[in-house]
Formats: sequence, C-alpha cells, structure tokens
Amino acid sequence: MIALPLVSAPRSALADSVEDTAQVCSGCHGEAGVPIDKTIPVIWGQRREYILKELWDFKTGHRKNETMAGIVDSLTRTDMEALATYYSKRTWPNLGQPAATEDVKAKAIDIIGQVNCRGCHQDHFQGDYVRPSLRGQQEEYLVKTMTDFHSGERANFPPMQALMRSLSEDDFKPVATYLAGLNPEVPVIGQK
Ligand code: HEC
Ligand code: HEC
Repeated sequence: MIALPLVSAPRSALADSVEDTAQVCSGCHGEAGVPIDKTIPVIWGQRREYILKELWDFKTGHRKNETMAGIVDSLTRTDMEALATYYSKRTWPNLGQPAATEDVKAKAIDIIGQVNCRGCHQDHFQGDYVRPSLRGQQEEYLVKTMTDFHSGERANFPPMQALMRSLSEDDFKPVATYLAGLNPEVPVIGQK
C-alpha cells in the first residue's frame, strides 16, 4: 500500500470561498450531509481523490449528469480540489438505513464474492483513493448508479461497467440493500 500525502487547502480567503460554494451543494447533498432526495449520493466523508475525479468527469462530460454538469460548469480545478478536501473531511452521516435481512445479505455476499468487490472497495467498503466508499450510501442511489454502469449511461470507468455487465440487473437491489445497511461509523485505520 502506498501512503499518499494529503493535500490540504491553505487556510486563507480560499477557505471562505469553499464554504460559500458548499452552500450551493448543501441545497441537494444536505446541510448536515443527509441528501434531500434518495437518488442524491452522500458526499460527506467520501474519498477525496474520488470526489475530485467525479467533479472533473462531470465537467468534461465523461460522467453525464445534467444537474451536476450545470453545477460544475463554473468551477475551476482549484475550486474542485478545495471542495474535495472540504467534503472528504466531513463525517459521513448515518442515514439509519436498516441492515439487510439474512436472506438478502446471503444473496449480496454471494454476488460480492463472485466479483470480489472488496478487492477494490476494501474490506469494509470504506474505499480508498479513487475507489469510493460505499458503506451507508443511499440505497436508491446505489441501485441507480450500478444500473447506469450496466446500461452504459455511466461510462467514466470501463472496468466497473464490465463488472456490472457481468451481473444481472436483479443482483443490484440486494447488493445495494446490503451496502446501504452497513454502519458508516466503523472506524478504519488510515482513513483521513
Ligand atoms: C440540484 C441538486 C445538486 C446540487 C446543487 C449539487 N449536486 Fe452533486 N449530485 C446531484 C445528483 C442528483 C448526483 C447524482 C448524479 C448521478 O446519478 O449520476 C450528484 C452527484 C455528485 C457527486 C458524485 C458522488 C458519487 O458518489 O459518485 C459529487 C462528488 C457531487 N455531486 C458533488 C457536488 C458538489 C461539490 C456540489 C456543489 C458544488 C454539488 N454536488 C451540488 C445533485 C446535486
Ligand atoms: C477493479 C476494481 C473494482 C472492483 C472489483 C469493483 N469496483 Fe466498484 N468502483 C471502482 C472504481 C475505481 C469506482 C469509481 C469509478 C469512477 O471513476 O467513477 C467504482 C465505483 C463504484 C460505484 C459507484 C459509487 C458511487 O458513489 O457512485 C459502485 C456502487 C460500485 N463501484 C460498486 C461495486 C460493487 C458492488 C462491486 C462488486 C460487485 C464493485 N464495485 C467492484 C472499482 C472497482
């Protein structure tokens, strides 16, 4: 494992402007990190490098989403770096989604084992670097984005597309229910 240096934004006028921009984000991603809608992902406590990559992908059109494209249009790379640092340092909110039932969990674990999701998303699905944290993420958003990879609507990381195509669409719901129900508060050594 390579230790990556954490880049932190200088405490200056920039910090103020990040907070101003973050007010716009709060309109959808939530004042305290709880998104206003179930199809909007949690970004508080998400991996810095992942947030940065997604913002850039929305801007360049590699990840297509009209809402987010409009939001990032006026942001510079420096703004995005500051936002990624800002959000990666917030605490992931506990959405209180129930743990999967034994049946659903067994199905999810079977699918997860077939594809070895943990090989990239890490043991507790806490993510790492550009691999997003998935534990405690919004269930509906997880189903939507896995379906988008499957259909090719989300095409900003071909290996995930190939993996999702190797699964059946019926597999996404149990996996999403299982991931959504994982406790985001389990401390992970080396996080942040
Ligand atoms: C009008 C609502 C809205 C606003 C405002 C908004 N977002 Fe989003 N954001 C969304 C939606 C919806 C998605 C999911 C897009 C999809 O389904 O692919 C998203 C996705 C994201 C993602 C990808 C997360 C992931 O898990 O892949 C990031 C990062 C993000 N937004 C950051 C921001 C930041 C930073 C701001 C403020 C500068 C912001 N958003 C403002 C609605 C919004
Ligand atoms: C080869 C490494 C790898 C494997 C294996 C893998 N993933 Fe991923 N996954 C990634 C990367 C990297 C991304 C970020 C893609 C991007 O750049 O937007 C991602 C993104 C995702 C996302 C989108 C999260 C978000 O916030 O939008 C979900 C959901 C996901 N993976 C679920 C899974 C599941 C479930 C499995 C197993 C069935 C799996 N992944 C296996 C590397 C992997």
